[in-house]
Amino acid sequence: MLVWCLVLIAYHGILLFATVLQQQVEKVFVYKSYTNNTTGAHFPREEIEKDIKINLQVEPPPYEISAEAFPNNGSFRIEKTIHQIWIDKNIPEDFRKYVLSLKEHHRNFVYMFWTDKMALQFVEAMFPMILPFYVNYRHNLQRADAVRYMILYEYGGVYADLDIVSLRPLDPILRKYSCILSQEPHIHPIFYNNFYGLACNAFMACRSHHPFMKILVDNLPSFSVAAGVLDSTGPRFVTIVYRNYIVDHPHVNKTDADGVYLAPPEYFMPSLDPTLQNELEALCSKTELIHLQKWLCEKFKRHGLGGPTNYTFTDHNFPLNKAKSSLSNSYRCNSVFQEIGTPNSIKRHKVILTLIQYMNTSSPLLEVRKRQRKSDNCPSDY
Ligand SMILES: *[C@@H]1O[C@H](CO)[C@@H](O)[C@H](O)[C@H]1NC(C)=O
Ligand SMILES: *[C@@H]1O[C@H](CO)[C@@H](O)[C@H](O)[C@H]1NC(C)=O
Ligand SMILES: *[C@@H]1O[C@H](CO)[C@@H](O)[C@H](O)[C@H]1NC(C)=O
Ligand SMILES: *[C@@H]1O[C@H](CO)[C@@H](O)[C@H](O)[C@H]1NC(C)=O
Ligand SMILES: *[C@@H]1O[C@H](CO)[C@@H](O)[C@H](O)[C@H]1NC(C)=O
Ligand SMILES: *[C@@H]1O[C@H](CO)[C@@H](O)[C@H](O)[C@H]1NC(C)=O
Repeated sequence: MLVWCLVLIAYHGILLFATVLQQQVEKVFVYKSYTNNTTGAHFPREEIEKDIKINLQVEPPPYEISAEAFPNNGSFRIEKTIHQIWIDKNIPEDFRKYVLSLKEHHRNFVYMFWTDKMALQFVEAMFPMILPFYVNYRHNLQRADAVRYMILYEYGGVYADLDIVSLRPLDPILRKYSCILSQEPHIHPIFYNNFYGLACNAFMACRSHHPFMKILVDNLPSFSVAAGVLDSTGPRFVTIVYRNYIVDHPHVNKTDADGVYLAPPEYFMPSLDPTLQNELEALCSKTELIHLQKWLCEKFKRHGLGGPTNYTFTDHNFPLNKAKSSLSNSYRCNSVFQEIGTPNSIKRHKVILTLIQYMNTSSPLLEVRKRQRKSDNCPSDY
């Protein structure tokens, strides 16, 4: 097999090399838990070594999304519950109208608001296996990320960050799928990291006890060694676990009870961060663009900064990130260039290393990122 590959590489050069690279396999340590049937709490039993396979190559979607049919009656596949999390009960003024928009469109849903204190009590009671990692995260944002997966696993429903605005009822999509991931605007992963398809955790919806949520929770310990928020608990963590789930469950249809649907950005986050406009224009005026950038610039030419359409359920208010001071600082400062924990847990790091390679640190847009980090006064150890 190896010889065959080498011969073909010799003949077909780079094109075939890309094909060989398509799937990456890494070992990762994952907790296997047991559940106390009286209390429902999840405890660690043993650490198992598991292959984690991800597809490195994902082709770009069409420039125009096509209309998707949703059932307008019938039962919900996801609990009619909305979960939101904040530090305490004092929701900042800027966010209140967004919270109201969600409640208005979902009047017959249960609304569960979680403060950091409630979140800690919940993790203590229900996820003793995650607790030591949870309390040791350096950033509050990591705790906010981690607990949303545990909440969705346990209760099911919709999770939305406070800067998500609701534009119409979610009912049709909650009738169709059992687990829904939002996707960040294509520009974000392409512009910063040179890849397609970044799952976002600012909006997620999943039925309770969905195996994908379980896997997200079980992988929190392994990924906790990544120093930054995005890789340890955030969107890049979700993306890699999702891609692994797809590889491990080739026969599960995304509409199945155990399926996961990665929705197009147009559904939940159609608007681009307006602060990127100038840099996009500068990029797209260059003559030498690589594959993904060409695609991005064509998309930009056709759709500009995007914005809600008749496909859109919610939007994400990126400008508000600036107002979120400490939160936004964590978002903006985290990068793929961070140090990778301590040497004695190198094995656990392997999957993280793969992720970082995959996120291609040699993107020509690196300079933009560096400038941004500098202007944000990011601490050097992010
Ligand atoms: C489950 O939890 C209950 C209440 O804390 C405890 O009494 C019981 O021993 C636990 N069972 C197992 C198998 O750990
Ligand atoms: C809990 O219940 C499941 C299925 O009902 C069973 O397989 C498992 O052994 C039980 N766990 C304990 C700790 O009793
Ligand atoms: C549900 O909607 C479909 C079409 O969307 C329709 O054919 C069917 O009759 C409806 N069922 C009920 C019970 O309203
Ligand atoms: C997934 O299920 C839907 C609805 O049952 C069906 O239309 C579609 O063809 C299935 N897709 C695959 C890849 O099996
Ligand atoms: C949105 O509107 C376009 C026409 O402007 C139409 O072709 C498309 O089917 C609509 N999509 C939905 C989901 O209603
Ligand atoms: C990483 O980016 C560089 C520069 O854009 C490109 O030449 C290279 O092929 C990319 N590597 C991978 C593995 O995609």
